[in-house]
Amino acid sequence: MKSTVCIVDDDDQLRKSFQKLLAEEGYTVLDAASGEEGVDTVRTAKPDLVVLDMKLPGMNGLETFDAIHRIEPKLPVIIMTAFGTTETAIEAIKRGAFDYILKPFDVPEMLHVIRKALEAGRFMRNPVDVGVPPGKASREAIIGKSPAMQEVYKAIGRVSPTDATVLLRGGSGTGKELAARAIYQHSNRSDRPFLVINCVAIPETLLESELFGYEKGAFTGAAHRRVGKLEQASGGTVFLDEIGDMPQALQSKILRLLQEKSIERLGGRQTIPVDVRIIAATNRDLEKAITQGRFREDLYYRLKVITIWLPELRERSEDIPLLAEHFLTVFSQEVGVENPGIGREALQMLKNLPWRGNVRELANTLQKALIFNRGAPVSAEDIRQATSESRESADWDTEPESVVRQWVRSRLLQGSGENLFESVMDEVAGMLIEEAILATDGNRSRAAKLLGLSRPTLHSKIDKYGLQFETRPRQGKDTPKPSQH
Ligand SMILES: Nc1ncnc2c1ncn2[C@@H]1O[C@H](COP(=O)(O)OP(=O)(O)OP(=O)(O)O)[C@@H](O)[C@H]1O
Ligand SMILES: [Mg+2]
Repeated sequence: MKSTVCIVDDDDQLRKSFQKLLAEEGYTVLDAASGEEGVDTVRTAKPDLVVLDMKLPGMNGLETFDAIHRIEPKLPVIIMTAFGTTETAIEAIKRGAFDYILKPFDVPEMLHVIRKALEAGRFMRNPVDVGVPPGKASREAIIGKSPAMQEVYKAIGRVSPTDATVLLRGGSGTGKELAARAIYQHSNRSDRPFLVINCVAIPETLLESELFGYEKGAFTGAAHRRVGKLEQASGGTVFLDEIGDMPQALQSKILRLLQEKSIERLGGRQTIPVDVRIIAATNRDLEKAITQGRFREDLYYRLKVITIWLPELRERSEDIPLLAEHFLTVFSQEVGVENPGIGREALQMLKNLPWRGNVRELANTLQKALIFNRGAPVSAEDIRQATSESRESADWDTEPESVVRQWVRSRLLQGSGENLFESVMDEVAGMLIEEAILATDGNRSRAAKLLGLSRPTLHSKIDKYGLQFETRPRQGKDTPKPSQH
């Protein structure tokens, strides 16, 4: 579904360019030329996001934010501000605005923040149904009636209304994130913010400033104060996803937060009390990480008091038919076809597969099977075809990332420093081009298209990276030879 974004700014020109930009990105745009109009729009049109200028005639930015926040406490609001008015923007963040952007803004950055804010809004506002019957098709549901899942529901019910820190554990794709959202939604803080921080997706230094914020001048480039997510989410809940991968220095800071319920911004001396509930999740073997010195034992003990284990799918294979029915309903609904159902042999096959990627892998498999099957009930053959594909991609999920990382590390170790960056990038670019040409059977126009490059650009890159392809290719096709470096 299209998301609706409401722009509140008195600058007609700016609203127009926003309208164009966001429409191109597939959003529906509403605009308001004053704070009063913005508040009205929020009340009547229920947008998914507001982008609000701080400097407005009449009702000012902060008053407008407060009014919007009273009407829709979970509606994400991005503040736009000019350099001189960052203090009010910071105040708005403290009162619960999602983020702020300095004018004149960078388009890709703005679009990135918009996407993040919409996602955060969805997480807060879409309720996760716990243990519903499968007829009620929505992606936001935790399905399963096995004893192991009943235990999970009970645990979610028990911990939700408390402010206790919760640790969610279980393999990849077992539903930890869904469980985190369910806990939040059933908690006393459900009308307060829920912020998701993925501890692996963000580089260490950024993660630190993202969480804790910084003072002006804390490091080169810190031109003004930034309020961190922990402070911003005060009164609410923070989901620290993949906490097993959190860098050591930050682990100590999180421990301190849990013990003292306060933080310090980077480069700041002031101790700031923060009242956040922490929900953490990991699929790592934390006990092993401790013996390897990668995870702090004291933080582990602090986190593990309330642990909820999400069972592996193969340990609750009795739930597979229910899940299969659920996903077939959801996916056929999404693509607007009738649910074709599933054959008995196919179901049996689903029950016997190992599902290392758990529910996520099962869902992906059924989504693919639905594409192969074209109307008839999903057969064992459809599943076979779908799993052979998802098996490949499941391996891709974990392996190449670490392989590439190891390779990059080895290059760093060997590297002379001179031109290291360029030469590593060139190697990667060369491989990417070779793979694209392979994947398109040597058709360079298609390869160029695949890569989003023009044909001349592709050719100049082939020259630049010294890629060689056979001049008289087999079966009339270019086949790449190993490149020379
Ligand atoms: N019990 C369940 N019922 C229905 N859908 C589920 C269930 N568990 C997981 N899913 C779906 O499977 C996918 C993966 O779930 P989720 O992101 O919560 O897993 P995770 O444990 O956080 O995985 P990872 O460790 O890889 O981050 C999501 O699309 C989610 O909706
Ligand atoms: Mg997850």
